[in-house]
Amino acid sequence: MDLFHMRSLVLMLSAVGFCKGQDAPVISGSISAVVGKNVTFITTINANDFGDFLTISWNYKKPSGDIPVVTSVPKGDTYGEGYKGRTALNTSNGQLNIALLTGADSGSYSVNMVTNKGLSHTGLIMLKVLDPVSTVIITSNVSQPVEFNSTVALTCTAQGSELNYKWLNGTVPVVADGSRVILSPDNKVLTVVGVYRNDLAGPIYCTAYNVELATSAPFNLTVSYGPENIFLTALSNPMILIKGSNITLNCSAQSSPAASLQWSLNGLLLPAKGPTLVLANAVEAQSGNYSCIAYNAQTLRYLASTTTTITLIAPLSGANITGLTGNLIAGNSSVNLSCQATSGIPTQIVWKKDDREHVPSNRVVFSADKSSFMINPVQKEDSGQYQCKVKNAVSEDFAYIRMRINYGPEKVVITGKHSVHVDDLIQLMCEANSVPAATYAWMFNGSLVGLPTNNYTINLATLQNTGTYTCLATNSITGRASTSDHKVLVIEKGIPLPLDEEDGLTGACGRQNQFSRRTRRKPGQKLERSAN
Ligand SMILES: *[C@@H]1O[C@H](CO)[C@@H](O)[C@H](O)[C@H]1NC(C)=O
Ligand SMILES: *[C@@H]1O[C@H](CO)[C@@H](O)[C@H](O)[C@H]1NC(C)=O
Ligand SMILES: *[C@@H]1O[C@H](CO)[C@@H](O)[C@H](O)[C@H]1NC(C)=O
Ligand SMILES: *[C@@H]1O[C@H](CO)[C@@H](O)[C@H](O)[C@H]1NC(C)=O
Ligand SMILES: *[C@@H]1O[C@H](CO)[C@@H](O)[C@H](O)[C@H]1NC(C)=O
Ligand SMILES: *[C@@H]1O[C@H](CO)[C@@H](O)[C@H](O)[C@H]1NC(C)=O
Ligand SMILES: *[C@@H]1O[C@H](CO)[C@@H](O)[C@H](O)[C@H]1NC(C)=O
Ligand SMILES: *[C@@H]1O[C@H](CO)[C@@H](O)[C@H](O)[C@H]1NC(C)=O
Ligand SMILES: *[C@@H]1O[C@H](CO)[C@@H](O)[C@H](O)[C@H]1NC(C)=O
Ligand SMILES: *[C@@H]1O[C@H](CO)[C@@H](O)[C@H](O)[C@H]1NC(C)=O
Ligand SMILES: *[C@@H]1O[C@H](CO)[C@@H](O)[C@H](O)[C@H]1NC(C)=O
Ligand SMILES: *[C@@H]1O[C@H](CO)[C@@H](O)[C@H](O)[C@H]1NC(C)=O
Repeated sequence: MDLFHMRSLVLMLSAVGFCKGQDAPVISGSISAVVGKNVTFITTINANDFGDFLTISWNYKKPSGDIPVVTSVPKGDTYGEGYKGRTALNTSNGQLNIALLTGADSGSYSVNMVTNKGLSHTGLIMLKVLDPVSTVIITSNVSQPVEFNSTVALTCTAQGSELNYKWLNGTVPVVADGSRVILSPDNKVLTVVGVYRNDLAGPIYCTAYNVELATSAPFNLTVSYGPENIFLTALSNPMILIKGSNITLNCSAQSSPAASLQWSLNGLLLPAKGPTLVLANAVEAQSGNYSCIAYNAQTLRYLASTTTTITLIAPLSGANITGLTGNLIAGNSSVNLSCQATSGIPTQIVWKKDDREHVPSNRVVFSADKSSFMINPVQKEDSGQYQCKVKNAVSEDFAYIRMRINYGPEKVVITGKHSVHVDDLIQLMCEANSVPAATYAWMFNGSLVGLPTNNYTINLATLQNTGTYTCLATNSITGRASTSDHKVLVIEKGIPLPLDEEDGLTGACGRQNQFSRRTRRKPGQKLERSAN
């Protein structure tokens, strides 16, 4: 194409408004690429729009002068020194690809393209060849952070030039709040103030990037915390158990690393360590307030559990009743019975007499703890079986005692006929209420007769047997004696006997009885005497 034709084409294009394309550069600005990789300078022109390019030339610009990269003319392409083999030109659009980039490739590149229509297009581009991103590593300035105490600074380091950084917490970007989670202005350092246990468990990733990016290995940091939420578990609280029981207490606490657990009794440390405390065959001395204490060697924090009160109680055995000594005499003696257990301590004592509750009265007084009572004076109705029940939280035991009250003799009664014929049988029986049983003696008109038994017999009565018979009842323990009189009338045979009440009630004491009987008595009959 000669100059004339070219000018006329320019005029022609200008007339239809195509001349703008000649002014605008086909490429401008800057582009980054990475050492060892390739870059393509993308032009904004396409030969189809303007016909074929006659020449395309790319030059690397240096102050000392341009260095040709590639020159393309219809008969072929010529690559400059150092570009052959790693450079490729697309002759349909002028785009240039440079591979195996080195730092020395950084710089400005110009392009000049002339079409077969005589139009010329130029452009200039800056290439920055960057070191690639590699070895992205997160380091922490604290290796064993303690929750709430530690401020952890994570630093991201990477190989490469012109790097930027960003952080991921798991899969989501780390959000810096400026107070607790802080990113340095260059994003290289992530600082967590007063770190929480879950802050760095993410895992955390750091990505360093320029035109490429590389991401660190997942990073997590175990933050020590606790102990907290300490629980002491026992079967119950309080626990009241029989001596010899096996007791197990468990303790747990949340802590990282796991807390060491130690046990204490009444505030004093026990040698026992670990989550389970076993008291085998526990004795009373092991009673008290138990708690467990958790210690985290990393956080240096202690935490004590609530206490569990354990009470060990010996079972009661060998209950017995003491205080019964000598003979008890109604109306004259007092007695003080005590109940105790040979082993174990009763917390409750209950007394019964003849299976019914034994209650206080003006004669019966209990001690405050019910362990004893006094009867003063004893009476005959106090005789009976006494039971004492001792109880504590884990057992009970019983003791029995039979108490005999000596009394009498009283109500001395003689039974027998009051009138008989000569040669009849006279048989008198004497009875008295007495404990122990009374011994008896008989007197006739004031003189001892017969045997010391409760009966007195005359087989063949004579007139001389008429008179007063006296029964003398004696109690050897009470030392008391009591008498009763009985009159017998012996009558000649053939003479009718007076109406006689021959029953046991005759002389059965009680003045009332005698008076009532007297009213029924026939006139002339003498009154009986009942003595005591
Ligand atoms: C240039 O790099 C891209 C991606 O890095 C690759 O796909 C392409 O094959 C490379 N081209 C040349 C000519 O090396
Ligand atoms: C050159 O560029 C054109 C248009 O963009 C494209 O169609 C063609 O494939 C490219 N040729 C080569 C060898 O890359
Ligand atoms: C770690 O870095 C933070 C922030 O700079 C600092 O407050 C903290 O004291 C450092 N910790 C240690 C153990 O150096
Ligand atoms: C990471 O995510 C966890 C869970 O959402 C959150 O608890 C933690 O605070 C986060 N860490 C940071 C450094 O933001
Ligand atoms: C990170 O977490 C994983 C699983 O959660 C665990 O196996 C690994 O030991 C942790 N690494 C560190 C340094 O804590
Ligand atoms: C204590 O822990 C053991 C084992 O975990 C369990 O078998 C036992 O029932 C626990 N005892 C109590 C009192 O919680
Ligand atoms: C208590 O444990 C011991 C063994 O440690 C066992 O011999 C004994 O029978 C247990 N006692 C009770 C009351 O379970
Ligand atoms: C156990 O604790 C209870 C209630 O806290 C207290 O009254 C008692 O005195 C304690 N016992 C001992 C032996 O410290
Ligand atoms: C944590 O902080 C508290 C108070 O700020 C301090 O008493 C404690 O010793 C610290 N713990 C550690 C492990 O540094
Ligand atoms: C009754 O108990 C007491 C005290 O516990 C004891 O000394 C005594 O030997 C016991 N007597 C009998 C008969 O068991
Ligand atoms: C009278 O008493 C004696 C001695 O106790 C006894 O052997 C005898 O059988 C009694 N006689 C009558 C009739 O009860
Ligand atoms: C009855 O008690 C009195 C005084 O207490 C005493 O002198 C008397 O000997 C007692 N009588 C008997 C039978 O024990």
